[in-house]
Amino acid sequence: MNQQRQPDEMPQTQAPDPGRRQFITYLLGFSVVATVVGVATPIAGYLWPPIRSSSDTGGRVPVGTTTEIPVGHGEVVAVDDKPVVVVNTEQGGIKAYSAICTHLGCISKWDPQRQVILCPCHDGRFNPVNGAVISGPPPTPLPAYQVSVEGDTIFVSDSQA
Ligand code: FES
Repeated sequence: MNQQRQPDEMPQTQAPDPGRRQFITYLLGFSVVATVVGVATPIAGYLWPPIRSSSDTGGRVPVGTTTEIPVGHGEVVAVDDKPVVVVNTEQGGIKAYSAICTHLGCISKWDPQRQVILCPCHDGRFNPVNGAVISGPPPTPLPAYQVSVEGDTIFVSDSQA
């Protein structure tokens, strides 16, 4: 005896509600976009820091405040499209140097643990008080920029000292 099931007797799988499916699709799409933006934004901020132009400030560029860069801290900022490392040193006050390493041109940064300006490419280290080479392959010190402070605003001159 043939016991074939009739189509109306077949077990039916429930198709998801199209509204719910669409909602989940939107949610997944939003998650992907949020993840991409969340990852890309800090990378873009590192690669292309905000440009501070000196053209409308008489050759001086405001780069932050003493609250934003307290003693023992430093930051790489862009001054007229050039990377400059600004350091608030305990011994020498606020200093600014070209962040372009004198070895092969990598971008140096402030190392808060060692309290030195560090070039990550070949571990070149610079003194934050005078820009001199402490160790590593850089042949010359980092060129210094002129710094002034008015109130709590730090200004860096667009020409090197
Ligand atoms: S490029 Fe900076 S140490 Fe080599």
